[in-house]
Amino acid sequence: MTEVMNTEILDAYEPGAIEKAAAILKSGGVVAFPTETVYGLGALATDGKAVAKIFEAKERPADNPLIVHIAGFDMLQELIDGPVPLEANLLAEEYWPGPLSMIFKKSGKIPKEVCAGLDTVAIRMPSNPAALMLIKQAGPIAAPSANRSGKPSPTTAKHVFDDMNERIPLILDGGSCRVGVESTVLDLTCTPPRVLRPGGVTAEQIAATIGDVEVDGSVLSPLKEGEVARSPGMKYRHYAPKASVTIVQGARKRVAAEICKQYDEAKQQGKKPAILASTANRALYGDRTVRMLGNGAAEQSRELFAALREMDDIEADVVFAEALDTKEMGLAYMNRLGRAAAFQVIDADKREERRK
Ligand code: TXA
Ligand code: MG
Repeated sequence: MTEVMNTEILDAYEPGAIEKAAAILKSGGVVAFPTETVYGLGALATDGKAVAKIFEAKERPADNPLIVHIAGFDMLQELIDGPVPLEANLLAEEYWPGPLSMIFKKSGKIPKEVCAGLDTVAIRMPSNPAALMLIKQAGPIAAPSANRSGKPSPTTAKHVFDDMNERIPLILDGGSCRVGVESTVLDLTCTPPRVLRPGGVTAEQIAATIGDVEVDGSVLSPLKEGEVARSPGMKYRHYAPKASVTIVQGARKRVAAEICKQYDEAKQQGKKPAILASTANRALYGDRTVRMLGNGAAEQSRELFAALREMDDIEADVVFAEALDTKEMGLAYMNRLGRAAAFQVIDADKREERRK
C-alpha cells in the first residue's frame, strides 16, 4: 500500500524550496521537480530503496528503467562502465544541458532498481535551473516523468498534483515546461547509435553531430506480437486519454474535411467528439470543439500533453487529431500522438481517392 501523505507545492525559486527538496531526497524520500521537458519524480539514483518508492507512487511496471539526471559532466564517469564514448562527448558538448538522454553500460554505483535489471543506464543533464540546483545539492537523481503510469507526462505542477496528490511529500513548481515532451533517448551501446524515443534533440541534429544514427522502428508503429522492446517503456500504452484518439493525415483541407465528417457522425451517434488542430487551421472546423495547439511541431509538442489531459477534463469520447510531418520535432510529436492513438491513422487523401 502506498503511504498517504500531504503533498505540498512550493515555488521552486522561493528561498529554501530546493534545500527542502534536497533534504527529502537525502533522507531517502521522493520529490517531483521541473525539467525543461516534463516534470520528473525523483529519488537519489544511488539509493535503491528510495528509487523503489518511485515505482510505487507511479504504479510503474518494475521492468521499465529510469533516467539518471546529472548536473555536471564530472558526475558522469562514476555512473558508467569504461571510458565515455566519443559520441557522448560530442553530443554532450552540443546538447547538454538539454533534452537528450544517452544510454551507457552502467557502473556498480547504479542499483538494479534504476535500470530494471538491465546492464545499461540512461543519463541526461537537464537544463532547467531548479533541476540543476537540486541535483547539485542532492547528487544524481533517478527520475521518470511524474505522471501516473499510462497518463500523459505532466508539463505543469498542477498535472503532477492531479496524479500524485497524497502519494509524495513535495512538488517543486517551476512553471510550464519549455519543451513539453520527454527527452530524446539515444542508445550508445549499439552501432550505429539508435534513437529509442524521439524528443527535443532531433535525429537530424544527432546525425549532424555524430554521423550515422538509426531511429528504432517502434517510434512510429506498435510492437509486433512477440517482439522485444529495446526500450522497455515503448511496450506500454501511454499518453492516452480516456477517449479513443484517431490521427488524420493527408493534405490540409482534405484532413479538415475528413475530421469534420467523422466529428459530425460521432455527434449524431450521441458521442462527445473533440479536435486537436494547429491554430492556423482553426477556421476549417467551424463551431466544432477544437483544442488549438499553436503552430509548428515545436509549439504543438509543447501543448500536446496538456491538451490530452484536457480531453479527459471535458469528457470527450472521441478525439480527432491532425498529423504532422515526421521530420525534426514532428517525429517526437507523431510518436507521442501515435501512442495516444494506439497508432490508429486515417489517410484522408486515400479516402478521397476511393470516393472518386
Ligand atoms: O525528459 C525526460 O526524459 C523525463 C524527465 C523527467 O527527465 N523523464 C522521462 O522518464 O521521460 P521516463 O521514465 O518517463 O522515460 C524513460 C524512457 C523509458 O521509455 C525507458 O524505457 C527508457 O527511457 N529507458 C531508460 N533507461 C533505459 C535503458 N537502460 N535502456 C533502454 N531504455 C531505457
Ligand atoms: Mg514517462
